[in-house]
Amino acid sequence: MATADASSPIRLEIRDDKIAVMTFDTPGKPVNTFNQANLEALEGCVGQIEKQTDLRGAILRSGKEGNFIAGADLNELMAAVGTDKNLVRTFCQRGHDLFTRISRLPFPTVAVIDGMCVGGGLECAMAFDYRIVSTNPRTELGAPEVKIGIIPGWGGTQRLPRLVGIDQALEMNCGGDSIKAEKAVDIDLAFEMVPAEELLDEGVRVINMAHETGEWKEDRERREQPMGLSDDNMMFNFNVFRGFILGKTKGQYPAPLKAIDAMERGCNLPLQDGLKEEINAIIPLIGSDISRNLIGIFFMDQAVRKDTGVDDRSVKGRPVKQVGVLGGGLMGAGIAFSHIRKDFGTILCDISDELVEAGMKRVVGPMESRIKIGRMAPQEMVASLTKLRATTDKIAMKNCDLIIEAIVEREDVKVSTFKEMEGILGENAIIASNTSTISITRMAKDLKRPDKFVGMHYFSPVDRMQLVEVIRGEKTSDETVVTVVKQAQAIGKKPIVVNDCAGFLVNRVLLPYMNEAVLLVEEGVDMEKLDKLVTKFGMPMGPVTLADMVGLDVAKFAGGVLAEAYSDRAQPAQLVPKLVEMGRLGQKSDAGFMAYESKRGKKRGKPDGVVAKLVDEIGRRQSDVPDDETILDRLFLSMLAEACRLLEENIVRKHEDVDFGLIFGIGFPPFRGGLLRWADTIGAQTAVDKLAKLAPLGKRFEAPEMLKEMAKSGKSFYK
Ligand code: NAI
Repeated sequence: MATADASSPIRLEIRDDKIAVMTFDTPGKPVNTFNQANLEALEGCVGQIEKQTDLRGAILRSGKEGNFIAGADLNELMAAVGTDKNLVRTFCQRGHDLFTRISRLPFPTVAVIDGMCVGGGLECAMAFDYRIVSTNPRTELGAPEVKIGIIPGWGGTQRLPRLVGIDQALEMNCGGDSIKAEKAVDIDLAFEMVPAEELLDEGVRVINMAHETGEWKEDRERREQPMGLSDDNMMFNFNVFRGFILGKTKGQYPAPLKAIDAMERGCNLPLQDGLKEEINAIIPLIGSDISRNLIGIFFMDQAVRKDTGVDDRSVKGRPVKQVGVLGGGLMGAGIAFSHIRKDFGTILCDISDELVEAGMKRVVGPMESRIKIGRMAPQEMVASLTKLRATTDKIAMKNCDLIIEAIVEREDVKVSTFKEMEGILGENAIIASNTSTISITRMAKDLKRPDKFVGMHYFSPVDRMQLVEVIRGEKTSDETVVTVVKQAQAIGKKPIVVNDCAGFLVNRVLLPYMNEAVLLVEEGVDMEKLDKLVTKFGMPMGPVTLADMVGLDVAKFAGGVLAEAYSDRAQPAQLVPKLVEMGRLGQKSDAGFMAYESKRGKKRGKPDGVVAKLVDEIGRRQSDVPDDETILDRLFLSMLAEACRLLEENIVRKHEDVDFGLIFGIGFPPFRGGLLRWADTIGAQTAVDKLAKLAPLGKRFEAPEMLKEMAKSGKSFYK
């Protein structure tokens, strides 16, 4: 066996049976990506085997366990390609040329895939005659490019449909979600699935088989040709899918539509012409504002995954094996569910047998729904439930390493429960509160171990919302923070650490916006129009619908806490308490701002005149209602001003956390990159000018010093 330079990212070995084995193994990196150096190395390697006339086959594998190739290097892509259209063209053409050469090697080729095979990694693998995947649960194949605002640009829009058919290709290229190894075999993206340790031998066997059958030559030829879809088939597939995507993205995300264009234009052309269509489709996307914003979120996400939650990297957290959840209500059940799904032994505690039973039902419910739609196997539910114990007896939690409290939002009840738990738990156990409004520092005052007390603010519904705000009280220790951050990461959440203040990060920024929306309604702005305007801006729902969904009693309570804490600038709206007084609590009571009717399992709201009457009573209706621009300015600049204030008070550790928290906590439109990135696009000076115009409305619109400074110096949050 001949071997090549071991320090190269691609090691080439020629076996005695004349099969070339290329091992992709970037030195010093945990994953393989296509950066310049690696791309060059693969080009060099392909150049070598192209020239060798005695080879019988080639295999590409990864030297990283559980990681095949993670795609192009995004840092390099951003820096090197930027917005220069010629560079984009050259960059894509380079990938096309390389993968075309691989697809034309004069012998059968196999990519053996263990672990993540996404983006450019999948495009590379698709240039091989066969793909064999491993049974490793980490093996996934996917085209996530649309998630960063671009489309596959190294052949993915053309090779994928030719391998798996147009339906599957549309789903994968436009949705961006990866598929598991088993599914890859089902849809013919992979030839077969074998244990990771057998991949190489199996690759050799498949090359030998290919020589016997000769089918690889016909398959190759076919994949170079137009797909030959009928007009009807084309019309149906592409138009239906385009409509579906437009409905889902409201036209705010151009990438999936461009992926459809590339596939539609290219699928009935010879492959090489299709690849040209792919380049035409990707050019406007790479370097666009939307793509930059989405890539920004991707990097923030990577940073959050690696963050320990404290600046001192030497601090280690304590191990957490057993978790206790106090309160089996909406939040507690969700928190317990999220833990047992990740195999953590969990004890759920409530105050009576009936409430314990109700809590258990809340845990089982989402699992049953998942089973119904095929997202969970019944045996997974059984396995998860073996991890759960439910009880009314707090002493049963004595060996827990972490207690997460999700009981009623009453400070006295919470504090006495914490004291009781301190008496039951071991010295090192941590108590975390899921409070949404109560000060962590204040609740820690009477505790024996305030260093082991922390806030863990989950969002509803817990099984779907990924953000967790970890709130540090004045005395919370670094060790406690690191432990709970790690624990939140271990159950698949995205934790950010914030300092204690009323509303913490997310609610402190959200509630001024919600309150402003109600003030606008009191001035006579139409509720439905307001919601529409905001969803057009990109929020997942309007503030009126959101208030009705959260519950007006909850909104009133939280709003009250914030109004008291920030009384210098608060101007509480009157509508919410009035509606609560009338028993209109939102969707849960079938009436809030709107009146609700259930249609096909969904609640649909319509104004029923009650709010209009209350607005008359309040007497703030304006003859000239604010125009659309002013409405949006009032809503989003009130958010921005509050975000600047909390940055000035060092509530967050870095400004990126504001954007991250709002995107994952309230669905601030990802294509805008977050509140602060949005502010950067309008510019600090414009924001200050707009705030000056709104200042007569109240102190809440006073431009924060930070923003004024930025306007003066021409700085932005991200530059
Ligand atoms: P919930 O009313 O649905 O559930 C509370 C549960 O705690 C009830 O089952 C109750 O019987 C139980 N409980 C009360 N005292 C207890 C005690 N001493 N020991 C054990 N169990 C006890 O309330 P929900 O909505 O689950 O909220 C719980 C906590 O989470 C509150 O602090 C709330 O502010 C917070 N939160 C709520 C969010 C939401 O969207 N509902 C979002 C984020 C935080």
